[in-house]
Amino acid sequence: MTTLPAAQAQSALSSRTDYETGLQRLREASQAYYGDGESVLDDASYDQLRRLVQDWEKENPAEVSPDSPTGLVADGAAPVGDVAHTSRLLSLDNVFNAEGLVAWGASVQRRLGHAPQGGMTVEPKIDGAAVAARYRGGRLAQIITRGDGSHGEDISHVIGQIDGLPEQLAEPATVEVRGEVAFTQEQFEKANEIRSAHSAQVFANPRNGTAGTLRAKDRPYRLQMTFWAYGAVELDGVPFLPAGATHAETLASVAAAGIQTTADSPAGLHVVADLAAAQERVDAIAAMRADLPVGIDGVVIKLNDTAEQTAAGVGSRFPYWAIAVKLPAVERQTVLEDVVWDVGRTGVLAPTAILAPVEIDGSTVTRATLHNPADIRRRDLHLGDTVTVYKAGDIIPRVQGAVVQLRPEGALEVPLPEVCPNCGGEISKAQERWRCVKGTACALPALIEYAAQREMLDIDGLGKTYVAALVASGDVSDVADLFALSVEQLTDASKSAKRAAKLAEQIETAKALPLSRIFCALGVHGTGRAMSRRIARHFVTMDAIRQADAVALKGVEGIGAEKAPVIVEQVAALAPVIDKLIAAGVNMTEPQDTSPANDGGPLTGKVVVVTGKMSGPLETFGRSEMNALIEKAGGRVGSSVSAKTSILVAAQSAGGKPSSKAVKAAELGVTVFTPEAFAELVVDFLA
Ligand code: IVH
Repeated sequence: MTTLPAAQAQSALSSRTDYETGLQRLREASQAYYGDGESVLDDASYDQLRRLVQDWEKENPAEVSPDSPTGLVADGAAPVGDVAHTSRLLSLDNVFNAEGLVAWGASVQRRLGHAPQGGMTVEPKIDGAAVAARYRGGRLAQIITRGDGSHGEDISHVIGQIDGLPEQLAEPATVEVRGEVAFTQEQFEKANEIRSAHSAQVFANPRNGTAGTLRAKDRPYRLQMTFWAYGAVELDGVPFLPAGATHAETLASVAAAGIQTTADSPAGLHVVADLAAAQERVDAIAAMRADLPVGIDGVVIKLNDTAEQTAAGVGSRFPYWAIAVKLPAVERQTVLEDVVWDVGRTGVLAPTAILAPVEIDGSTVTRATLHNPADIRRRDLHLGDTVTVYKAGDIIPRVQGAVVQLRPEGALEVPLPEVCPNCGGEISKAQERWRCVKGTACALPALIEYAAQREMLDIDGLGKTYVAALVASGDVSDVADLFALSVEQLTDASKSAKRAAKLAEQIETAKALPLSRIFCALGVHGTGRAMSRRIARHFVTMDAIRQADAVALKGVEGIGAEKAPVIVEQVAALAPVIDKLIAAGVNMTEPQDTSPANDGGPLTGKVVVVTGKMSGPLETFGRSEMNALIEKAGGRVGSSVSAKTSILVAAQSAGGKPSSKAVKAAELGVTVFTPEAFAELVVDFLA
């Protein structure tokens, strides 16, 4: 099979040859996808290439290839079968942001001659493969792929393999339901487990493989998928829907017959009165994306009233009465460079994938979780593999699977440790998560020694030997236990009453240390001394740190999208230790900066993001000076532009091209200041 290099970042095709190469790569990628379910370009790269080809076609209309995939349903790559569809299976037009949705609204209004009266529906756009399922007399008689939209393939052999599409309905309905088939994340994990057990290639992600699985007839195993209906049409002239049923009522009838619809997904189907309310639902669905059981690549908005749908009309490829608001790609391909193993506090071995840096949904991903050895084998990971990585919202990125076609020759399976990577001792493989047989005693001594250092708890008498003794006796199984030690226990460990008294005194003193030092002593990955100080100053109390989600943590300078969820997870896992510290009377607040500042300053309650080099009165200000200035004026420092950002301070870029942060700010309606204008705003704090 042909393999393609990753799409290069390109802004335009410059020649006819480039155009033809582009067409060829598009065709190869989508044929591979529809052939065996494995595209060798990730969605984002595919979409980018497709856009370049389309732009070139717009510029050079006379030279457009007559068989260009851009004008065909499914880019002309879906195998066309011989079953005629009852009526054409249409695709959807796309917009990418709120402005696009507003433009669609205007076009609908133009076509109707008035604003829609019957409301609009908002539902998830499931990322799978479209099918039409024909029920006759309540029995599932036939399933057909979309094909080219007018003819599809009969795939009735998958009847029984699709949840949500029962073979027998409770009522003797005759109807054709249309919807999307996909693997849920859970079904995807199971599918790869089954495939690797059969020495079949794993799927790189839940979407790839749906098309292949639907068409596969003679596999020695069955993979369960799921269906969500998003429409229904009359079959054989038998009435099914109440006359004039709205879209929402249509799906309700389908659901009442026992078939799953998009309304049954956690994202649901909502009827809203206007576009502003639709946009709110889009945002709500986008925010729950990472928690949905199935992948979505957008949100679909439709006119609810069927008469208004008819009045708005249908184009050659898609209806004018519906629109997909595409969400950013949350899955990219990159290279798995290495796997590193950490030993957690309880001795569990945790693998982390080290990835060639890849931009996903606005942040750079370099690491992803791999759970456990079985997970590594289930995803068939080899070092040097191109892998698909999923990251949505603030979840920790995960590796979905290897793109087996792109595996370098001679690549080795990810090696699994034979001895504990921390202490070199024996590993227990009794459970899915491997552990060092020493359990807590493996990683704990190093952690306690670290916590006792001068910069943290400053218990300088507590060296390696005493720590080893305290861990061995079971008196210390986490940092908090230090504060519960009796003089007797300390005497046993240090073999000296005098030393024990000194240690007890130091431990007592440590209880009053600032939160930054206590927090640092917990040994949360990625939070050394400087970072712990910043976190403690930012949140002031341990309570606030514990309540912070990833978005809040990103307000701390130096914590980006990659670190934030990892810290949240570790702080949550440390709950019992923190509770013990509180119970022992350890200080949980950071003394406030008493320097003259800030409440009532011009930035009070505002989150400020800075990008580019400063100029004018701020010319000499580096990042840390800017951060200090913002905090002095009462604001908080943000690291990336989001809906929570109040102000973006953006340097004028030399080429006149706005930075990506400035573009995002404009999209979100965030106020943008030049460094000069910002300096004026905070002029009182410049001295
Ligand atoms: S409506 C006449 N609703 O997305 C309008 N499509 O990119 C037909 N899809 O071809 C489509 N979820 O395969 C509709 N809730 C949803 C959908 C949905 C996924 C698929 C469908 C369509 C493709 C367009």
